[in-house]
Amino acid sequence: MLYVGIDLGTSAVKLLLMDGNGKIQKIVSREYPLYFPHPGWSEQKPEDWYTQTMDGMKELLSECDKSQVAGISFGGQMHGLVILDEKDEVIRPAILWNDGRTTEECDYLNHVIGKETLSKYTANISFTGFTAPKILWVKNREPENFARIRKIMLPKDYIAYKLSGVHCTDVSDASGMLIFDVKNRSWSKEMCDICGISEDMLAKVFESYEAVGTILPEVAAELGIPETVKIVAGAGDNAAAAVGTGTVGDGMCNISLGTSGTVFISSRNFGVDKNNALHAFAHADGHYHLMGCMLSAASCNKWWMDEIIGTKDYAAEQKEITKLGENHVYFLPYLMGERSPHNNPNARGTFIGMTMDTTRADMTQAVLEGVAFALRDSFEVAKSLGIKIERTKICGGGAKSPLWKKMIANILNIKVDVIESEEGPALGGAMLAAVACGEFASVEEAAEKLVKVVDTVEPEADLAAKYEARYQQFKAIYPACKELFDKII
Ligand code: XUL
Repeated sequence: MLYVGIDLGTSAVKLLLMDGNGKIQKIVSREYPLYFPHPGWSEQKPEDWYTQTMDGMKELLSECDKSQVAGISFGGQMHGLVILDEKDEVIRPAILWNDGRTTEECDYLNHVIGKETLSKYTANISFTGFTAPKILWVKNREPENFARIRKIMLPKDYIAYKLSGVHCTDVSDASGMLIFDVKNRSWSKEMCDICGISEDMLAKVFESYEAVGTILPEVAAELGIPETVKIVAGAGDNAAAAVGTGTVGDGMCNISLGTSGTVFISSRNFGVDKNNALHAFAHADGHYHLMGCMLSAASCNKWWMDEIIGTKDYAAEQKEITKLGENHVYFLPYLMGERSPHNNPNARGTFIGMTMDTTRADMTQAVLEGVAFALRDSFEVAKSLGIKIERTKICGGGAKSPLWKKMIANILNIKVDVIESEEGPALGGAMLAAVACGEFASVEEAAEKLVKVVDTVEPEADLAAKYEARYQQFKAIYPACKELFDKII
């Protein structure tokens, strides 16, 4: 049988076709625009997601035996607010995970409702990108839109709704809304009241590997696939990526170097970081995870390459980097503010330490290192909780760079396991579909059978020591700039 994984990303949707042996048959991607209507705001049109998903799906399935397609599932950008009216029309563009407009709503949630109360109800506190503060923002700033809301959904769930007609979500993605009681895997009545919404506006919650229904007959006809195809709940992109890299069960780690950068630690048991610096979310394998998320990771390199130095040849730029561990230029990668661990939407990208002999390669190196140092910040929080991590998997666009992987191995001083396919969320989505269709007994079994480590990047003692010293310097820069960031906004 064949399974489709849809990774609804921030710059593009990636669609992947996998057979029951885990062999990837085809990958297709389709881009869509991202809008920044004000500095720090970030929006997309759900209609674009659907049009491009359907267009990509047609190409994905163009050469296969369509009668063999059994299931479709998802990994999707998390936290985005999609609101529909009584006619099921999208009320306003979706407000995305990296949007920083909700500072006041977050202050209200964290300081008036209180972090302890939020953590009691949801296992998390408020960050600007989370969904609950966005609902409050619409309520406060666009009351006419708020009054029209009948359905609230997350980005990938909009696609699932269009494909199946079922208003559904999954436990991992629901966890990032700050309306979900993560421990008990159900909506929080208290949080609904705080946000001024009723529970019937929210989706029915499924485990990630559960079918929510079958494809609508008209969509099946448009794609030429059977009406029996199961639409499977899927997961937030990080949980789906974790499935795709075999980061399931207890104490496993995955680093995602995509538009965002995440450190994801799977856990069989529910647990909360007492400072809530890491998110405590439900995992797609039926258990839980902790996660640190930086808002700009591979996107910093893309910005530096595309917008600033104006090249598409990333590999050629990286070839010029020869002095690892010796760069005296530093880069704070906070181009969209920062979530973990600083929780500061006012933080900004910053270069520091240039001298007259600084080269273009030093600056490029600083960008790559800055992202790795910022990942280490979240990694340090995990270590402070007593979590021991000796190795990690890695996925996302940035994971294609051998140099970046080497930097991460040495800056975090851990082994980086490279897997056969770095397709993360799209592969994880296809695997979740396969589990729902009975190809595997569990997500853990699917991961065990399908995910293969093909190489390991080991830290080197000398380099790790040099980077340790550099990290200590990097760590001092944000606190020194913090006050300034608030002033220059
Ligand atoms: C996770 C997060 C990002 C998005 C990116 O909390 O906000 O990783 O899911 O798509």
